[in-house]
Amino acid sequence: MSSSFQAPKGTYDILPADAPTVLAIREAFAAPLRRAGYGYIETPVFEDVKLFSRGVGESTDIVSKEMFTLTKRSDEDLAMRPEATASVLRAALQANLHRIGNLPVKLWYSGSQYRYEKPQKGRYRQFWQVGAEAIGAEDPALDAELIILADDAFRSLGLRNFRLLLNSLGDKQCRPVYRAALQDFLRGLDLDEDTVRRAEINPLRVLDDKRESVQAQLVGAPMLRDYLCEECKAYHEQVREILTAAQVPFEDDPKLVRGLDYYTRTTFEFVHDGLGSQSAVGGGGRYDGLSEMIGGPALPSVGWALGVDRTVLALEAEGIQLPTPGSSDVFAVPLGEQARTVLFGAVTELRRAGVRADFAYGGKGLKAAMKAADRSGARFALVAGERDLAEGVVQLKDLSTGDQTAVALDALVSTLKEKLK
Ligand code: HAM
Repeated sequence: MSSSFQAPKGTYDILPADAPTVLAIREAFAAPLRRAGYGYIETPVFEDVKLFSRGVGESTDIVSKEMFTLTKRSDEDLAMRPEATASVLRAALQANLHRIGNLPVKLWYSGSQYRYEKPQKGRYRQFWQVGAEAIGAEDPALDAELIILADDAFRSLGLRNFRLLLNSLGDKQCRPVYRAALQDFLRGLDLDEDTVRRAEINPLRVLDDKRESVQAQLVGAPMLRDYLCEECKAYHEQVREILTAAQVPFEDDPKLVRGLDYYTRTTFEFVHDGLGSQSAVGGGGRYDGLSEMIGGPALPSVGWALGVDRTVLALEAEGIQLPTPGSSDVFAVPLGEQARTVLFGAVTELRRAGVRADFAYGGKGLKAAMKAADRSGARFALVAGERDLAEGVVQLKDLSTGDQTAVALDALVSTLKEKLK
């Protein structure tokens, strides 16, 4: 009988059979960041709720509908982090990293995020991201660096059916002018009450409305691209040029608006074509005003987060199986009490010498123990009975060929290390 409890709605367990893939994805995302000088950071999974309402934006779905809030005392409202950019910037400011070291401060993280969304394939209430933030520099090469690192990370996993969408959201000079023009246009449309309200608070989000009825009316809407100021235009052009020189293909997507309010200028999303509606496997952009929004100094910054869960699905969609090493190389099968003691000692010694070794626990008979050895995926079984011990040897059985050889107990570690090379 299984337990009467289940993982909460929208969450799932990462079991040992799937864990190697998840760990390999995290490593594939992290490796390019480490090579580019990003330092690892961890922040709490909950923060002051105001960090997110101010940072991510009061009117975003993430803050207004999807936040898990925790109230312990009336003066202290906490929320599970729906994303990590605001937290990482908060941590960097709190520790004065922007004053102590070089700018940009380059940080990366790996962890779970929490959003109270309607669960479906690829959309969970707890999900994993690997992210990177470069804090305190305005330089198109830095935006391009991050995009190139993400592209390299996806490619290193063997993924090919993904596309990079690129846009510029302008800055505090040109975006308000565009916002007003878009609002004027939206006021002339036939929209439902909710969308009318959204058009007043966050008109750019209306462009992202997936409904056919809305999209049909958006034909002819003013595009931000036509309102960018000269500085934003030149900046964006440089990002595009650097990406082209680095041979990173991208598609200009003038309708790309992200679900978080802090973005300025460069914004991008990686979408995978085998994932249906939850197609974004990663996204990010520049957030030049976020530091000031949370009470810090002006620190123009840029970053991204890649979705681990959706990358698992993308690998499946492309039929890519990452190599998953078995959990042990050697499996010890003792025959009798004396052999138990000796082989347990041998397993301990092997592990200390760096060999992955396991043991037939639970006093199993020979047949069941050999079955366990097979299932473990180990290359060798280490079998010994009283007669072997009297001769100072153990039997080493190659589980793929069935060949068996006697090895002197005191030469076991060196013999196995040689064979496993
Ligand atoms: P985001 O676009 O909200 O950006 O999330 C980044 C990625 O996390 C998405 O592309 C997707 O792969 C994954 N993701 C988001 N929500 C879910 C979900 N409910 N279930 C499964 N996967 C999900 C951010 O979070 C920004 N903090 C990125 C950033 C960093 N911008 C600047 N710096």
